[in-house]
Amino acid sequence: MQKKPIFVQNANQIITLKGSSEKPLTKEQMNELHIIENSSLWLEDGKIQMVGPHDKLVEQYKDRLHEAEIIDSYGKIILPGLVDPHTHLVYAGSREGEFNMRLNGATYMEIMNNGGGIHATTSKTREACEDELFAQSFRRLNAFLLHGVTTVEAKSGYGLNWETEYKQLKVAKRLNEAHVIDIVSTFMGAHAVPADFKHLEDKFVDFVIEEMLPKVAEENLAEFNDVFCERGVFTPEQSRRILLAGKKYGLIPKLHADEIEPYEGAELAAEVGAISADHLLKASEKGMKAMADKGVIGVLLPGTAFFLMAESANGRKMIDLGVPVALSTDCNPGSSPTCSLPFIMNLACLKMGLTPAEAIVAATINAAHAINRGQEIGSIEIGKKADIVIMDVPNYMQLAYHYGMNHTDTVIKNGKVVVLGGQIQ
Ligand code: NIG
Ligand code: FE
Repeated sequence: MQKKPIFVQNANQIITLKGSSEKPLTKEQMNELHIIENSSLWLEDGKIQMVGPHDKLVEQYKDRLHEAEIIDSYGKIILPGLVDPHTHLVYAGSREGEFNMRLNGATYMEIMNNGGGIHATTSKTREACEDELFAQSFRRLNAFLLHGVTTVEAKSGYGLNWETEYKQLKVAKRLNEAHVIDIVSTFMGAHAVPADFKHLEDKFVDFVIEEMLPKVAEENLAEFNDVFCERGVFTPEQSRRILLAGKKYGLIPKLHADEIEPYEGAELAAEVGAISADHLLKASEKGMKAMADKGVIGVLLPGTAFFLMAESANGRKMIDLGVPVALSTDCNPGSSPTCSLPFIMNLACLKMGLTPAEAIVAATINAAHAINRGQEIGSIEIGKKADIVIMDVPNYMQLAYHYGMNHTDTVIKNGKVVVLGGQIQ
């Protein structure tokens, strides 16, 4: 850890999101950013030590300013490091051929049912050695970092057998140690039914429950357990079995829910006490209300709808009904090959009716809560981890407004400057 303190001075705005560490923000709270104008930050020992008006901090630290690394943020804004709570980070290969097929009319599910899609990436990931997977995923982490992301959730699910699921989870652990970005792991053995279990779906579910889950828990390879609950993949009943079995091992349920067709995934997430239900393009109002009642976070992925040329989830309605909403890239080679969370924030405004303020909450503190890290990251408060991003825009509303552009100027991770002037240090 860096010994020297960092004084980040003179920002136009610091978006603190104060008071949000206990619970994700809902309804009108999602518009309350708790901004401090003309403000500065003192970071030391990997933690945020002080945040407030510039003059006040200068006075408080006047005897120690000469010790500090000074980062000037005049004309810019400061946010908590962005958090991506849903990615399929560790995979091999790419699927631009399928992109072309979809542009010519094929659907995502048709491609998958013909052995492509998740199955294609599964083959590539099975073939790749651990070091190859590590190298590919490391590059993606660099892309995340350059877009202001400091914590990423990563799912397995391109193995569909123990050997490769294990390989993916081990790579995620290695990446967590080797890369400055923090990685939080999710086991997703039930991402698709592999070819050797075709028409034996329940047997595969038994295999996930009896063979894979105990090993994941025993080796402490993941914190969360996710299932692709979708017609033609896993039914709500099969998903329930897997999620409840995971709970017995201490794995917190998550769910790919109601993505392509309405399938009562949102309802199931509320029933099993999932921390989040993700996608939700086709979620029913009943399901949304059940999520709001139980505090299940809706992790919305407007990049996936955009890339699959589908209608986005109704984020506006979810927020109005009281669902705590988070945003994510869903970074994966099939339905959302991007690492740009700022672009996702822009899409959330344009396609799901979120305000720029709600998009910031959804990509910081609510995203942190969606991976059980709300107490440590996601807001700029004394004692939290010094994960900070400086964006080169004069006010927060310009972030989502300039679409398809990267405003990330400086990233401080764990109290260390890791991106400066848009370059990895
Ligand atoms: O979240 N929908 C299921 N899983 C991923 C896509 C995985 C893939 O196509 O490789 C998703 O969209
Ligand atoms: Fe996904």
